[in-house]
Amino acid sequence: MFTRDVSGIEWVIERCRLLQAIGAEYDGTKPFAGLTIGTGIHLEPKTVALLLTLQRGGAELVSTGNLNTTQQEACDYLAARGVRIVGGPTSDPAEHDAHLWDVVRSHPDLLLDNGGDLFARFVDEPYENLRGGTEETTSGRMRLEPLRDRIGLPLLVINDSPIKQFAENEHAVGQSVLESFLRLTNLSTNGKRVTVFGYGACGRGVAANFRNAHAVVSVVERDPVKRLQAMLDGFLVPERDDALRTADVVVTVTGAAGVVTAADAPLLRANAILANAGHFPWEIDAAGLEEAGATVLEGGHMVNLAGPRPLGNSVESMDLGFALQARCLEAVARGDVGGEACVVPVPRAIDEQVASSFVSSAA
Ligand SMILES: NC(=O)c1ccc[n+]([C@@H]2O[C@H](COP(=O)([O-])OP(=O)(O)OC[C@H]3O[C@@H](n4cnc5c(N)ncnc54)[C@H](O)[C@@H]3O)[C@@H](O)[C@H]2O)c1
Repeated sequence: MFTRDVSGIEWVIERCRLLQAIGAEYDGTKPFAGLTIGTGIHLEPKTVALLLTLQRGGAELVSTGNLNTTQQEACDYLAARGVRIVGGPTSDPAEHDAHLWDVVRSHPDLLLDNGGDLFARFVDEPYENLRGGTEETTSGRMRLEPLRDRIGLPLLVINDSPIKQFAENEHAVGQSVLESFLRLTNLSTNGKRVTVFGYGACGRGVAANFRNAHAVVSVVERDPVKRLQAMLDGFLVPERDDALRTADVVVTVTGAAGVVTAADAPLLRANAILANAGHFPWEIDAAGLEEAGATVLEGGHMVNLAGPRPLGNSVESMDLGFALQARCLEAVARGDVGGEACVVPVPRAIDEQVASSFVSSAA
């Protein structure tokens, strides 16, 4: 089967057990009948499984990807099944901006956002029929929180579910960043000095996975409490500049801008390799550093979703996160949550429902 399924899309769809079960339920309940969902999320096999589940629930879909992570096979697969795909793979911010506007200006009833791109545009050009939606990431939550009063609609943040935090950010991002480093560089990790910027959920996983791969890992964290946590977890916690001076590999995963810039070039070792796993490509000034002779994998775009044959996070972790997505969109569509639930975490009842389904499906 796998040899014919060259893009791996069907392999992934079949293994998204929660989404398959939700899809079977939606065949009967059709919670999105008559509604259009606008989506701005990475177009790759796991999101294909999510979008087709929403379609089974009766939704019309208008979908574009994120900057530099869209996979053409995923677009083709969805387009062949009636999803309106806007644009295609691009690393051109202006082109991507036009695609996002195209989605918002089609006035969907629900928005599935990733990074706050769609809701931020909705605030600039509001329209009547939007019921609310979901936001996938930490970065999107930080961007949308200040816009809460202007959005005024139910907007559930998937990232802030404890399930997303431990299943994806902690366990899966670390694995996939390590896998991407190995695949993209063909270098070993044994004995390498790896510095991880950020010790949030993602950083903890990245640091742990490189340590498990026999690297010597240090953590740079601006929050003193998390820095202490990294130390007690057994990582080195040098001052920032010392960490850069000694690193063979630098991974940023903070959600912040300008974490490593061209001004840091004189500190870096000659063969240092930099990579970003944070949502936006602005954590590392890739252009400035490359001009100064440094190597930044995939131009500083999310290293586990950009580049040749990107796999992203594991199927199981994304199945969990996307089951939360489907259930949250369903709750908004049904009017189970009101405008006071604007930029808030996933309701506890949905977390419990998804967790119980996963445990019983694995039994
Ligand atoms: N690549 C992926 O597959 C993937 C998956 C999930 C989330 N993300 C992204 O990863 C990023 C981090 O997510 P998270 O859930 O770990 O966030 P988080 O908020 O839990 O952790 C980020 C940490 O970075 C620290 N930090 C911020 N600026 C810093 C700086 N300049 N130097 C050192 N530390 C700094 C913060 O204090 C915080 O502890 C976000 O951009 C998120 O959207 C990526």
